[in-house]
Amino acid sequence: MTTTHEPKRVRTLHLQRFKDEGRPFTMLTSYDALTARVFDRAGVDTLLIGDSIGNNVLGYPNTLRVSLQQIADATAAVSGAVERALVIADMPFGSYEASDEQAVNSAVKLMKAGAHAVKLEGGQRIRTRIAAIVDAGIPVVGHLGFTPQSEQRLGGFRIQGRDEQSVAELTADALAVQEAGAIAVVLEMVAGEAAREITAQLRIPTIGIGAGNGTDGQVLVWTDFAGLNTQGVPRFVKQYADVAGVLTQAAEAYITDVRDRAFPDEAHTY
Ligand code: KIV
Repeated sequence: MTTTHEPKRVRTLHLQRFKDEGRPFTMLTSYDALTARVFDRAGVDTLLIGDSIGNNVLGYPNTLRVSLQQIADATAAVSGAVERALVIADMPFGSYEASDEQAVNSAVKLMKAGAHAVKLEGGQRIRTRIAAIVDAGIPVVGHLGFTPQSEQRLGGFRIQGRDEQSVAELTADALAVQEAGAIAVVLEMVAGEAAREITAQLRIPTIGIGAGNGTDGQVLVWTDFAGLNTQGVPRFVKQYADVAGVLTQAAEAYITDVRDRAFPDEAHTY
């Protein structure tokens, strides 16, 4: 099914409209103004300033060290560059664990930085956090399945929703997130069948990453999908480009030109 009307500016209400109309929507991560502008002009519906900035930009081993200020700075860069996409900022580990009040204060900081919505990981465990942020007038996206901030508790990268108990827990979490007032929920590394079932049960849209094609939207980490990440990517990632290859060729050509004194030439000299 296709929509009758493509929004000039994607707003939170459009995600629900996309689900209701059966129009799959897209999300990519972005951590800076230049990629944000490229993805926005290409027509990506939503951009996520993910805490995956930790592994993908800052060189951390995981997402746990990422600070609220780092996400706020990246959010300002991304939101300043986009004209159409909905900008969603991740709440990093440590920015909402202590209390509902801490969660609201952190979400407010990200909205002031330019986010249109915030995302946080967890289900029933954080329902009061979600409700408090929603009560403060801030749209919230949930995140279930494999939640990187809980990697230690989950026992590593594990696909969720493979057995009955896991599906029941995921479904209860998804319903709790919805009831708390979230506008959408990310399902990460969830068995395709389970993700499809949860999507059918929820009124709000689901956004899958490694969760098959039964979700309402899809998200990928940009450095994975564009082939910049040379450290190996999960099986669910389709690589749409070889940015690492292009940059390697460019760097090699530049090195050769400088060594041969072929650059700068007349055309590039004042
Ligand atoms: O931080 C991130 O990139 C994310 C996506 C994997 C959804 O949360």
